[in-house]
Amino acid sequence: MKTLVTYSTKTGNTKKVAESIAKAIKNSEIMDISEVKNLDYDLIIVGTWIDKGTADTKALNFIKTLANKNTAFFFTLGAYPDSKHALDCVENITKLFIDNENKVLGHFLCQGAVDPKLIEMMKTKLGPDHPHGPNPERIKRWADASLHPDETDLNNAYVYFKELVEKL
Ligand SMILES: Cc1cc2nc3c(=O)[nH]c(=O)nc-3n(C[C@H](O)[C@H](O)[C@H](O)COP(=O)(O)O)c2cc1C
Repeated sequence: MKTLVTYSTKTGNTKKVAESIAKAIKNSEIMDISEVKNLDYDLIIVGTWIDKGTADTKALNFIKTLANKNTAFFFTLGAYPDSKHALDCVENITKLFIDNENKVLGHFLCQGAVDPKLIEMMKTKLGPDHPHGPNPERIKRWADASLHPDETDLNNAYVYFKELVEKL
């Protein structure tokens, strides 16, 4: 079986998860999303970072090129994995795949450190009452996210995709 693990990343979090997933799948190929030349795979696993509640532009454009494929996806995000926001992201991204008749075989997500430059901007430019401003709850979430993806996340991704592929 030919499997592609491809990812879009801005600061490296999603790439780390991709590398762990690729290790779990025998004979898989791993590639930055901008390097994918053909789609001749039995399974295409797409990784993205979350930008405004959905896949980032590069991943979004890539997903739109897929049709009638066996797929799965994973993402890293600043929000907590068990939040409503994370669930909304799963729904938004699933829809991108199924709109083109792709089969989505599974998905994985974990928190990822938010770019310190973005945090600095939000801390200095936005007031605490702004929807993205530095209130205590958000400051705690940024601090929690800064520790991810950690070894547990990487191992969870490994196990999740190993089992997913073994079942095919
Ligand atoms: C411009 C920008 C927009 C973001 N939007 C969201 C968002 O809507 N929801 C969220 O949970 N995290 C958001 N994040 C956080 C990233 O998705 C998260 O830090 C991710 O792990 C970054 O992955 P990367 O290191 O692979 O680029 C945003 C980050 C940036 C820089």
